[in-house]
Amino acid sequence: MAVHVPEALAASLVDSLGESGRVWAAGLPTLADGLLERWSLRPDGPTAHGVVGLVLPVRCEDGTPAVLKLQPVDEETAGEPLALRTWGGRSAARLLDHDPTTGSMLLERLDPARSLLAEPDHLAAAGEIASLLADLTSHQAPVGMRTLAEIADAMLAEVPEALGGLADPGDRRLLADCAAAVREVRPDPGDRLLHWDLHYGNVLAPVGPDGRAPWLAIDPKPLAGDPGFELLPALHNRWADLTATGDLPRALHRRFDLMTERLALDRPRAVRWTLGRVLQNILWDVEDGEEVIDPAQRAVAEALLGR
Ligand SMILES: Nc1ncnc2c1ncn2[C@@H]1O[C@H](COP(=O)(O)OP(=O)(O)O)[C@@H](O)[C@H]1O
Ligand SMILES: [Mg+2]
Repeated sequence: MAVHVPEALAASLVDSLGESGRVWAAGLPTLADGLLERWSLRPDGPTAHGVVGLVLPVRCEDGTPAVLKLQPVDEETAGEPLALRTWGGRSAARLLDHDPTTGSMLLERLDPARSLLAEPDHLAAAGEIASLLADLTSHQAPVGMRTLAEIADAMLAEVPEALGGLADPGDRRLLADCAAAVREVRPDPGDRLLHWDLHYGNVLAPVGPDGRAPWLAIDPKPLAGDPGFELLPALHNRWADLTATGDLPRALHRRFDLMTERLALDRPRAVRWTLGRVLQNILWDVEDGEEVIDPAQRAVAEALLGR
């Protein structure tokens, strides 16, 4: 049975990966068919996708609902199966099977219609994320995981060139301040298993009440490092909920304090690693040709720097 590759996914694969994205998209139906047969799965509902991944709802031979996640393996996605296996279904979707050759994963099916994006109280949603992170980062990262230390070093090496790409002196100062914050914490980069991308859309409810947990994480881009590097997604996603409070710095501080308290983090270190995440975002934007710091990133950094 031919699996349909959504046009938007094919376009986004080409956008992100160029020719190799086109080749990957063209090979997807064959890859999916092979895995359906090998793992005795049958398609069971409409496909979902993200920027580069295809998520196909399936039923296992015994009727268990699952999803097949197919994505090109790169340094960000390579650790996903190992992280999910380490978590063993606690606070994260369970990994049911994995093909190391193609990086394909068979995952426990969660309810894609119920994510933390729909939790009415955004502060409660941030609290749920903090609770999940406390559990996920209680594990030491398995050997072989990409490290925050290497990411911090790579970022710091890019700073001099990026400074030249920003037009405004205030923006250059902010970039330099974020880099200085990273330099301060770099000597102790941490060894916890980090999810790295725990925003509200990457937290789904289980299908039906299974008595396990109200919320489970999906889609890790895992790292070994300090949990302070985990906070930015939940801090700045659902931005409209922050601005609607009428006091953006206070709203950011409330989320930040809630998360650092629930994770029992040292606040000054968490501030510095969060500025490191802001640095990462600024560097990506500059690399894409942006000459101005994104106002949301600026607002987060200024709130944390107390400006
Ligand atoms: N285990 C799962 N159960 C149900 N739906 C899922 C599951 N994993 C992913 N999805 C759906 O597929 C979408 C994209 O998957 P995700 O793992 O978040 O990849 P990415 O965002 O990197 O493309 C999710 O937002 C969700 O709608
Ligand atoms: Mg996702």
